[in-house]
Amino acid sequence: MKEVKIGVVGLGNRSTAWIPCIHLVPGCRLTAICDKVETLVNLRHRLAADLNKDARVARYTDYDAMLRDADIDAVAILVEPHNNVELACRALEAGKHVIAEVPLCYSLEDCWRIVTAVERSDRVFQLGEQVRYSAFVQVWKKMVRDGTLGKVLYVEGQYLHGMGPDRYYHDAATGARIHFREAKKRKSYKSRFWDMPHVILYLPHELSPMLHVLDERVVKVTGMATRPKSYRYEWFPHADLEVALMHTEKDTVMRMMAGFTVATLGGSEHHHRLIGVNGWVEQPMNPEEKGKLWLAERFMADKADVKWAYKDYWDVSPVGVSHVGQRHSRGTGQRPSRDTPMEALQSGHYGLDYYPIAAFVESILEGKPSAMDVYAAAETAAPAILAAQSIERGGVTLDVPDFRPGRKRKAGRYPASTSGLTSKGQITLPKRVRDSLHLHTGDRMEFLVRGQTEAVLKPVTKTVDEVFGRLSGRAGVTRTVEEMNEAIARFQS
Ligand SMILES: NC(=O)c1ccc[n+]([C@@H]2O[C@H](COP(=O)([O-])OP(=O)(O)OC[C@H]3O[C@@H](n4cnc5c(N)ncnc54)[C@H](O)[C@@H]3O)[C@@H](O)[C@H]2O)c1
Repeated sequence: MKEVKIGVVGLGNRSTAWIPCIHLVPGCRLTAICDKVETLVNLRHRLAADLNKDARVARYTDYDAMLRDADIDAVAILVEPHNNVELACRALEAGKHVIAEVPLCYSLEDCWRIVTAVERSDRVFQLGEQVRYSAFVQVWKKMVRDGTLGKVLYVEGQYLHGMGPDRYYHDAATGARIHFREAKKRKSYKSRFWDMPHVILYLPHELSPMLHVLDERVVKVTGMATRPKSYRYEWFPHADLEVALMHTEKDTVMRMMAGFTVATLGGSEHHHRLIGVNGWVEQPMNPEEKGKLWLAERFMADKADVKWAYKDYWDVSPVGVSHVGQRHSRGTGQRPSRDTPMEALQSGHYGLDYYPIAAFVESILEGKPSAMDVYAAAETAAPAILAAQSIERGGVTLDVPDFRPGRKRKAGRYPASTSGLTSKGQITLPKRVRDSLHLHTGDRMEFLVRGQTEAVLKPVTKTVDEVFGRLSGRAGVTRTVEEMNEAIARFQS
């Protein structure tokens, strides 16, 4: 394959960055677009045509039709996060490579579903998280790897993205953003916040770069939040701020928060700080501040100002890329490094959007491992999901599953579920077991003991066919509904 043909599904806000970016990345081409909202399909088709008048981009409002009929090797999934996994699994089944936007999903069931689906397929899966490509992430990663900071004890991060009231709703028929006052009057309004049940579910954006810096995974999580009703906007049905406290496998404590209603200075949405035994590094808190560095081993008396985006990585704006130069002088360091290709600098998020797509294309064309594979993706989603569960359960500490295959779980298989026995001899059936057996409250179970070490659990169910088989005579005599009811009552008594 010389070129990756990409179909994009989900043509909302984010697609206005992805479509131009696909156009910039060498080795790939946009060949199809799809959204349930036809107006958006036509709008984005015009955008693609403006970028390349010779582009042949097929239009779809039916995702399965795009998978079946379009000339595509890969799918870029830019839908609401709770739909990500379903669409990703369908694309993998259709033999397509997949890149999906962040966050991966909102449930552990979905984490397992996509992990096992990717393991069973031979296609590339990548999460399109761009902050991990920032220059400061590269510098910090190097400092951790070469021991400059010593053992890392603590990492903090925050994603506080105060948004105006027009950012929360859109018209489902046209895709247009609408103010919440208008949304109240319209039947077709839809929450643009993707029915996100907890704001901490956006944590993966902060966690991804820091897990990349540390080469780590979170093993324990606890969550805490302000009341589940905004203090800023009376109509926003979630907390203004949710916080996750986490412990990693190699013994680092992390504290990260997320919020969409807290007022913030433009350009200060992301912030990270890292404390090692030998020194501290910090991003600026807002665009007017500078980054910080302090190294105990170098006899520094105080923290030094550091422009992470510039130091050794970035010093001058390339000629002809004026908007990037201007934005580089502000902001808190979410900037690409000095060796960034010119074309990347025209992409969204100050040039960072280019990288996940370029890495994805490179994996497919050159057979390289995925730059952010399904395990790394699940490792950013699961702590957020568990932090949300912890908040609902009064701050209990929860264990994060290990998604990588090994002794306990074979690739492509779900993990075996376990449950503890109470003093009264009761057990809780894990939700995944209940879901896969289609069990509901009141259903009965049968235990078939096999020898001394094994028992099989079987739902006691009677199918409609079983019941009607008993009623119908050999000659197939027709029965009235009353007769059937009577017979069923007799059978049940
Ligand atoms: N990386 C970043 O910095 C960043 C920034 C913003 C948004 N995002 C992510 O990008 C994704 C999209 O965000 P958005 O703001 O564009 O959302 P949006 O709600 O504006 O758009 C989503 C679109 O997907 C469409 N869609 C959903 N299911 C579909 C289906 N089955 N078939 C066809 N179309 C379908 C909807 O009709 C909608 O138009 C989200 O996952 C979000 O978290 C990431």
